[in-house]
Amino acid sequence: MKDTAVAKLIRQETERERRGLELIPSENYVSKDVLEAVGSIFTNKYSEGYPGRRYYGGQDNTDPLEELAIERAKKLFGADHANVQPHSGAPANEAVYYAWLETGDTVLAMDLGHGGHLTHGAPVTRSAHQYNFIRYKMKDPTTGEIDYDELRALALKHKPKIILAGFSAYPRELEYAKFADIAREVGPECLLMADMAHIAGLIAAGVAKNPFDYGFHVITTTTHKTLRGPRGGLILSKGTVSNPLKAPEHTLENIPTLIDRAVFPGTQGGPHMHIVAGKAVAFGEALEPAFKEYARQIVKNAARLADELKKRGFTLVTGGTSNHLILADVYGSFGIDGKVAEEALDEIGLTLNKNAIPDDPLPPFKPSGIRLGTPAVTTRGLKEDDMARIAEWMKQAIDARDDKSVLATLRKEVETFALQFPLPSDQ
Ligand SMILES: Cc1ncc(COP(=O)(O)O)c(C=O)c1O
Repeated sequence: MKDTAVAKLIRQETERERRGLELIPSENYVSKDVLEAVGSIFTNKYSEGYPGRRYYGGQDNTDPLEELAIERAKKLFGADHANVQPHSGAPANEAVYYAWLETGDTVLAMDLGHGGHLTHGAPVTRSAHQYNFIRYKMKDPTTGEIDYDELRALALKHKPKIILAGFSAYPRELEYAKFADIAREVGPECLLMADMAHIAGLIAAGVAKNPFDYGFHVITTTTHKTLRGPRGGLILSKGTVSNPLKAPEHTLENIPTLIDRAVFPGTQGGPHMHIVAGKAVAFGEALEPAFKEYARQIVKNAARLADELKKRGFTLVTGGTSNHLILADVYGSFGIDGKVAEEALDEIGLTLNKNAIPDDPLPPFKPSGIRLGTPAVTTRGLKEDDMARIAEWMKQAIDARDDKSVLATLRKEVETFALQFPLPSDQ
């Protein structure tokens, strides 16, 4: 690369990734092939519209590319339709809201403090100004059980047009059948939407339940977390697919077409075809048997990491994990806030993020918790016994958080260990 300033930063980032262990549950390391596709010449091409119906010429290769990504995504998740164009998870959610809601309509979604995502109605978002978000919570954060009685009561009172199941900081499985029963009680206009951004890879591998098996109409996801693809979004749906250039009737059966129209031209311009290429590669990889084994190992590693943390005095929200993600209350456990823990762990090369815990007594910038997960370290090849080592480093770093020399020694240990596990792009 001729641009030495950017080249230097890329080199430094590669070294940072090589020498540390990535525990942020929403990150992963993509394969060499995904990286190659994302860095490909498809970045040059404008392809507004959909295959066979574009607003620009020269679509000889983009049409089959997008069709390939769509077919693979449908197969992975058992969907009738896939829109592979959303630039990321937030615009994917935005497009579904736009497809189904009128201004002022109600969405019933998981409370942000109990694991929901910003795009599920946080007051700072644009959609929260346009739609009316009502929130359900866990009944008891020590077990993680959702308060389905409250969810039902809220649904019957507010008659939401969308009931949204999904989370970015919830370590347990949702009971999709209960969501579906409640939506049926609300009425035939109630759309069941699952935002599976975090667990899409687990669902694709059959390791987590698939909301479509319980009557959900729409699944949104990012493609860059457990699914191990490029940074992007994806919308899957059930229903009839028709020409997106013609406005269909506003029915649940037509939701695939309503979504296509809401993505383009509703909320986005031209798709990023180099990213669509990366998605197609990642979906192909996720269809391979090896991906099932990978997803199983993510969950095994997370369960072991949770146990090892508990042995060392960490209190875990919901008492553990059933997926890839762990939420630890470091304030309750050790009297420090999540920011202090995040920084101490960063010092030794373990990257994770501070996070609020349910009904957090501390403010958002210095919350009580840390959030961590195993998708990325599992990609590196780490197994259950390595989780004990990570838990031990975490405890040692937190104990020695003010001791620079102990932190430096721990950093060397983490680095020596991490370098034994090459990044996929190095192999
Ligand atoms: C559940 C959920 N939905 C949506 C998003 C937004 O995705 P993006 O950051 O790609 O816009 C995230 C990202 O963390 C998420 O966890």
